[in-house]
Amino acid sequence: MNGTDALILAAGKGTRMPSPRPKVLQTLLGETMLTLVTATLAAMPRVRNVFTLVGNEADMVSAEAERAAQRLNISAACIRQERQLGTGHALMTAMPHLEGDGHVLVVNGDAPLLTEGVLNRFLDAAEGADVAFLSLVLDDAASYGRVVREQGKVKAIVEARDFDPALYGPLEEAHEVNTGIYLISLPAARRLLPLLSCDNKGGEYYITDLVSLGLAAGMDVRGIQAEGAGCEKTALLGVNTPAELAVAEDILKKRRNAELLASGVILHAEESVRVSPLSRVERGSELFGPCEICGDSVIQSGALILSHCILRDAVIEGSVTVREFCHIEKAEVRKGAIIGPYARLRPQALVDEDAHVGNFVELKKTHLGKGSKANHLTYLGDAEVGPGVNFGAGTITCNYDGKNKFRTVIGEGCFIGSNTAFVAPVSVGDGALVGAGSVIVEDVPAGKLALGRGRQVIKERKK
Ligand code: UD1
Ligand code: CA
Repeated sequence: MNGTDALILAAGKGTRMPSPRPKVLQTLLGETMLTLVTATLAAMPRVRNVFTLVGNEADMVSAEAERAAQRLNISAACIRQERQLGTGHALMTAMPHLEGDGHVLVVNGDAPLLTEGVLNRFLDAAEGADVAFLSLVLDDAASYGRVVREQGKVKAIVEARDFDPALYGPLEEAHEVNTGIYLISLPAARRLLPLLSCDNKGGEYYITDLVSLGLAAGMDVRGIQAEGAGCEKTALLGVNTPAELAVAEDILKKRRNAELLASGVILHAEESVRVSPLSRVERGSELFGPCEICGDSVIQSGALILSHCILRDAVIEGSVTVREFCHIEKAEVRKGAIIGPYARLRPQALVDEDAHVGNFVELKKTHLGKGSKANHLTYLGDAEVGPGVNFGAGTITCNYDGKNKFRTVIGEGCFIGSNTAFVAPVSVGDGALVGAGSVIVEDVPAGKLALGRGRQVIKERKK
């Protein structure tokens, strides 16, 4: 079954999640549900194209689908469902984009815990079926659609609100639920979809009705039980409410941390370490909770991240120490550097090998050269700093004139006295010395001493 297209259903409103953001954009460990589902599908060699069906807040959801595709190096393909008339209508809308006589793997966008392993097992068991879905037995089946069987043979999926106890027995005793994962042959879909009706309590076209319709047409319909297929149960939970989101996030955190521990990452206060499934933390690095490593961060072997740090899209090389309470976003820290405590590295900060960035120091679009030190109360923005530079406490690059940003360039081995302001654009040549308290408005030649401050005077005190 090489080359199955996948379709993520992400057009629904998510009315049970009281947030202005569409439900599939709710996050777990800093990643949206949509990105998590996309990442799982993108990692599967058997999946060819990943299509995302968008509708509610379509622009926002498409933007996130595109961002995910870019990060995962796949091509993004969003399909618009202008009106959300149900999951069956969702598949109808996608059909013109699905070519050939193969199958489509359909997954709900609100199943962020899905794993490759579960989907692969499902695909194995579903191979060749006309309509197959994955089911799960839950003690508390809540609002899930129920699987109705007769003598073990699947008959239908019935939504909780349409469930008639007179026909099927008490709802509370119906524990087998539909997980919202389907493999459907495209010829079968073309035949059955026109037969769907919205004559149900929800007034929607249900994808789940393909089960009874397929059976009526004498097709090969399979309800594959997760337990039998050896699937991890928690991977299949759907997220509809804030409470379900909290449970899912906790499961994902535990799963991710177990993976990290098994791969040889050292975790302290493990329960408060939060690492995105898309971040790469290498064996032999060490994290202290509470901390959050999100986005496409890379923590190399030997790096030490102390507690209360938040890293997003950060690259931390080996033998770096990030001390407590640092924020690092879209920035890179090279071997041997020491950051913090209480440092902030903003986008495009590059801290070179063995450099030090200390407390209450902020860097933005700045390269701090090898072995350079900015240890106290400093702001370096739009700056190029050579190696071996020492900044005294309270150094500021004045990079913004209210309209434009300007660069500060500081050469190798400079010594910058405390409380210096560089009014950019300005440059300081190699080996120059700037006296404390200077306001530097003109370029300083290499090897010179610059003083830009009022001269101290001593006078007699008035008696
Ligand atoms: C659905 C299933 C239910 C199953 C459950 C598993 C149906 C009718 N029911 O119920 O049997 O137990 O998932 O979690 O399918 N969506 C669209 N377009 C629409 C409507 C929905 O793209 O017009 C998307 C939603 O964004 C969501 C997914 O489809 O990601 C499922 O929709 P949702 O309303 O959450 O269905 P459930 O009631 O959870
Ligand atoms: Ca759902």
